[in-house]
Amino acid sequence: SATVVVRAEGQTINPEIRKTEEKVVDSIVVTELSKPLTAYCRCWRSKTFPLCDGSHVKHNKATGDNVGPLLLKKQ
Ligand code: FES
Repeated sequence: SATVVVRAEGQTINPEIRKTEEKVVDSIVVTELSKPLTAYCRCWRSKTFPLCDGSHVKHNKATGDNVGPLLLKKQ
């Protein structure tokens, strides 16, 4: 069975992944996309979820976390 961890406001989202990086952002290049760039939220704080609205910046500052979006880039 899967473990579900619920994190409240003010707690980090990312307890262990790539913590030596200031912000964890990954990019995927895709040849067929309607827009040149789409950012998907991975901090769960976006008001436009599943799209990133930049809320990760405030979250990272408040908690010391390092989460960032997944970027889909058109090739
Ligand atoms: Fe969540 Fe940007 S708002 S990663």
